[in-house]
Amino acid sequence: PFLNNLLSQDGETPQLNPVIEPLSWMLGTWLSDPPGDGTFPTMKPFQYLEEVHISHVGQPMLNFSFNAFHPDTRKPMHRECGFIRIKPDTNKVAFISAQNTGLVEVEEGEVNGQELSIASHSVARISFAKKPHVEQITRKFRLNSDGKLEQTVCMGTTTQPMTQHLHITYKKV
Ligand code: HEM
Repeated sequence: PFLNNLLSQDGETPQLNPVIEPLSWMLGTWLSDPPGDGTFPTMKPFQYLEEVHISHVGQPMLNFSFNAFHPDTRKPMHRECGFIRIKPDTNKVAFISAQNTGLVEVEEGEVNGQELSIASHSVARISFAKKPHVEQITRKFRLNSDGKLEQTVCMGTTTQPMTQHLHITYKKV
């Protein structure tokens, strides 16, 4: 609703742009269920909660925000937001994200049915970003037959080869 002040006179959500129809299965507000699993060779396994908003304003792109919280204290943790675009008339997808850690990244890949697979195309960061730096990222999003959204993230850093960092399923709310 907060987006609707300037967006439309009648408060209605604009029609979905047909260009992003192949990603319409991602739309909605999603809550981790169960909590996500964080892993990496350098760290103790951890769990996290995450709230995801994926929306559109009629443009040929999706808007997203991923907000992670500590499962016990509910303290905000990792946060990122950005856009998902499709090259018109193809299944080629670009994912553009700014993260609260000072990372800005572009991933590219493909949507096939209700599965989106992307890999980092470029990564930039602030000069005082925490080390080790991430060098490569891959993500897979999938809508499962039970209606849950699933995300798997792998990363490679300056000290570790590509390894899974996150796995989470979300329930639509
Ligand atoms: C650690 C990257 C998402 C929680 C790290 C590290 C990197 C990283 C490079 C340091 C690894 C090391 O020390 O060897 C990323 C990237 C993400 C992401 C690129 C998104 C694409 C998340 C999310 C959470 C999370 C959603 C959920 C809470 C943590 C925690 C640590 C960590 C708890 C260990 C402590 C710390 O270094 O802060 N992450 N991360 N990360 N990440 Fe992520």
